[in-house]
Amino acid sequence: MASESSHVQESSSGSCTDFREDFAPSKLGTKEYWDNAYSRELQTYRDIGDVGEIWFGEESMNRVIWWLEKQNTPENAAILDIGTGNGVFLVELEQDFLNLSPELKEFDLCIDKGTFDAISLNPEGREMAKLQYMSSLRAALKPQGHFIITSCNWTKEQLLQIFSPGFELQQELPTPRFQFGGVSGNSVTALVLKRLS
Ligand SMILES: C[S@@+](CC[C@H](N)C(=O)[O-])C[C@H]1O[C@@H](n2cnc3c(N)ncnc32)[C@H](O)[C@@H]1O
Repeated sequence: MASESSHVQESSSGSCTDFREDFAPSKLGTKEYWDNAYSRELQTYRDIGDVGEIWFGEESMNRVIWWLEKQNTPENAAILDIGTGNGVFLVELEQDFLNLSPELKEFDLCIDKGTFDAISLNPEGREMAKLQYMSSLRAALKPQGHFIITSCNWTKEQLLQIFSPGFELQQELPTPRFQFGGVSGNSVTALVLKRLS
């Protein structure tokens, strides 16, 4: 996947599509791009058993699972992994939580790891894509349900602004910090938001 784009950077905390505030629309924002990428990953898995890219690294899954355990999330909680990619996170979640639901609604928890980042690049109108994302999220998540988003393209402040109509910050999950030129910051942001009724 990384070799597909000049915008992708690798780090010890996993890979990340390098968006900036003025990031340009790109094929990375299309479903077709990812469908192709994941069918190649599936073939590689069948050929050599490689599970494929773990987006943002293993710690991105561990910090969400840590939060779920800290909240005593019941084993039968309905969890939606939005844009699950190669499904590695679902396999991890399955060890503790799995509630198969026939319908895409009434989820207790929705998780997003890199999907909103990608959708924000949609070349056919990213503002519309973001609005569609928001309305699908609201339709899928129960009132008072939690939405955990991991992003490398949006800061905490930007995410709070984007999701403020209808969501409030519950917790910011710790992510690795960097220092550059006397400025420190996070390369990845992970937030737990709660849907207001
Ligand atoms: C960076 S991958 C992240 C995959 C997974 N969440 C993970 O952590 O490995 C981005 C995901 O967004 C989905 N996606 C990107 N653009 C999309 C679009 N326009 N419509 C629907 N899904 C899209 C892709 O199918 C893919 O699963």
